[in-house]
Amino acid sequence: MLRFLSRQSTKKRNTGKESLYPERLIQLHNVGKAYKTQAGEFIALKDIELAIGAGEFVGVIGKSGSGKSTLINMIAGIDRPSAGEVYVGGTPIHSLDEGGMAKLRGHKLGIVFQFFQLLPVLTAIENVMLPMDFCKLYTRRERRERALYLLDLVGVAEHAYKPPSMLSGGEQQRVAVARALANDPPIILADEPTGNLDSKTAELVFQLFEELVLSGKTILLVTHDSDQAKRVNRAIIISDGEIFEEYLARTFPSLTERQLIWATSKLQLQKYHAGSIIVRQGEPADKFYIVTKGQVEVISPTPDGGQCVAAHIESGEYFGEIELLQGGASIATVRAPLDSEVEVAIMHYDTLNKLISESESTKKEIASVAQERLKDNHIH
Ligand SMILES: Nc1ncnc2c1ncn2[C@@H]1O[C@H](COP(=O)(O)OP(=O)(O)O)[C@@H](O)[C@H]1O
Ligand SMILES: [Mg+2]
Repeated sequence: MLRFLSRQSTKKRNTGKESLYPERLIQLHNVGKAYKTQAGEFIALKDIELAIGAGEFVGVIGKSGSGKSTLINMIAGIDRPSAGEVYVGGTPIHSLDEGGMAKLRGHKLGIVFQFFQLLPVLTAIENVMLPMDFCKLYTRRERRERALYLLDLVGVAEHAYKPPSMLSGGEQQRVAVARALANDPPIILADEPTGNLDSKTAELVFQLFEELVLSGKTILLVTHDSDQAKRVNRAIIISDGEIFEEYLARTFPSLTERQLIWATSKLQLQKYHAGSIIVRQGEPADKFYIVTKGQVEVISPTPDGGQCVAAHIESGEYFGEIELLQGGASIATVRAPLDSEVEVAIMHYDTLNKLISESESTKKEIASVAQERLKDNHIH
């Protein structure tokens, strides 16, 4: 049996409240987009709530015409929302003029499109230098050196002095990724960057994005490829201009799309450092938690006055009042493991209760999971 109290007392105290994503790099609040068409207004995005933290690799999936490109264009400032607010690095881009937007885009955003969109009259290296010429963060000489460095980074340095027409699709997309990195932006937006490539080349370009995330970039990537969608850190699904988090759909398979969309807007994602407490025994636990990354440990008191890890709750599983509470206070402590961080989505009971009241099967699912857990884990 493990006795965590003594081990914990030697560790630096961690309040556990502190987010590992203090900087919400991208935030959309109440964003709507309506296009005027001959048939009248077409609503392409509706009431979008979305927060993306520094270092996240977010996949955007959804059927053709669901609003994925429209969403990316709102963040890229390529198009304007009809309603709501869009913040990039804290800047309210919905209120920037064209000049301000171009400046922000140049510094903060690297954009990669499905059809590369390289300028055909320029060589590869000139295409990569163009954003640097616009922002002037680097001297002329540095720009050329940096462009070569970036082309080398993405593996196409030998094509630096060729026009795009002499390159294959995969090579052109690599040049486009190098161009997106020109001013070393913290954020990369990619709209189906591999949609026009054969599967082998697509894999190489996708690996490039994985490497960029490891180097600290924040990436929002629209993809049709379900294998890619499994390899991002977080997937959001767009359906008819509304979004929901994929893990919610996996955790509560009987909820309707409408309920998932509603619940997503009520969720708050929270990271906990290794060893930090999420719910403390004896304190009121008034929220419902879904583990979205990693796993949590349930710590229970033992008859001899010690503590033990009574259970692990894995990614995609949830915990809350039903199994942890008796008479209003938690009967166990839940914390991040001592050696790894964890991310949870937090839902208030009002939200959960509304979902349960609308979905008998979800209610039954949750009740049966709670029963199993009480039985298996000896939480009395
Ligand atoms: N400029 C526009 N004018 C009118 N309708 C548009 C315009 N752009 C996109 N749409 C419509 O908005 C919906 C979402 O488009 P889009 O964001 O491109 O979808 P996706 O990228 O998911 O395929 C589609 O029905 C599309 O026809
Ligand atoms: Mg699109």
